[in-house]
Amino acid sequence: MIAPVEIAGISTTLPKRAVTNFEIEKLVDTTDEWITKRTGISTRRIASKEETALDMAADVAKKALEQSGVKKEDIGLIVSSTICSEYVTPAMASHVQKAFDIDCAAMDISAGCTGFVYALITAASLMDSLSIDAALVVASEKLSDYTDWEDRSTCVLFGDGAGAVVLKRSDTACMSYPVLGGSPDHEDVLICKREKRQTPFSGAVRVKKEYIHMKGREVFTYAVGAFEHTLKKLLKMCGDKPYTKIIPHQANEKIIDYVMRKTDFGKEQFFMNIKEYANTSSATIPIAMYDAYKEGWLKKGDRLALVGFGAGLTCGGVVIDWTL
Ligand code: ACO
Repeated sequence: MIAPVEIAGISTTLPKRAVTNFEIEKLVDTTDEWITKRTGISTRRIASKEETALDMAADVAKKALEQSGVKKEDIGLIVSSTICSEYVTPAMASHVQKAFDIDCAAMDISAGCTGFVYALITAASLMDSLSIDAALVVASEKLSDYTDWEDRSTCVLFGDGAGAVVLKRSDTACMSYPVLGGSPDHEDVLICKREKRQTPFSGAVRVKKEYIHMKGREVFTYAVGAFEHTLKKLLKMCGDKPYTKIIPHQANEKIIDYVMRKTDFGKEQFFMNIKEYANTSSATIPIAMYDAYKEGWLKKGDRLALVGFGAGLTCGGVVIDWTL
């Protein structure tokens, strides 16, 4: 079951430094024209060594909570989504909890770029089963730490950033039709391994930095299929009250364009901000949702579909009735 909840607060935290395609041109054999044409990306935010994924998570959670008016003592659960935490343990959510100095449940979700959708649905479901009144859902990613800055096929795509929402119990259900899914990644089309460590018993191990590896074409094929399928499934579930706006994972403008052409939705129904921030993995959806709200694209009363897809391979979606 998913509790009747609403999004009561939302915020983003982005690194100060914006890196343009022209700066990437100086690192690898690429051009602004190639990147813009194939992906729609112009700039991305890249964190300094002081701007950690954990700090961005704590900062964005504080801002979202402030905006919601919910007291920190009323938060019963923190769910973070990340693939970039600086700690193996404890969870990123436990770091956020430490920043608030509150007692509550805290856990992380690792579901690639679909992580925020997984975290949102997990939090709302746990709010129901654990009778929790308010929860924080935080996505924070510092992909620049896992990017091979010598690989032109991946380094142009990613950025850093964080987004968070506060979920609060409401009289009516403002989050409906949760859909989570995935397919096995037999071909390792999108992976990033943990670095190997030497132990007294493991024999010689080459300790090397591991980076994101991606087979672009294969990921594209999965992404468009999962995206279209999830949109159609959500539409069917909505029945006579369809969603009219869509915030998809911002992986690549071409993925969104492709799905737009394959469905009856118009361009104006999709929100995109990939041009400015590139792909920040699980943080793209809350970052886009915040921008859509701040720019007035998202209005009180709008019915909205969130759709994620990414490593795993994972996909998921949920329908939100916007109340802010
Ligand atoms: N600049 C210039 N040339 C490049 C670059 C670059 N940055 N990257 C690759 N190329 C070259 C390749 O070397 C290749 O050259 P070749 O023909 O001489 O061998 C040529 O461009 C075509 O390469 P492809 O990989 O086939 O290019 P494609 O048209 O598929 O575009 C892209 C690549 C943009 C990555 C595309 O496959 C894609 O969007 N895939 C989806 C992946 C994605 O969005 N991943 C994000 C993370 S996953 C997620 O969020 C779901």
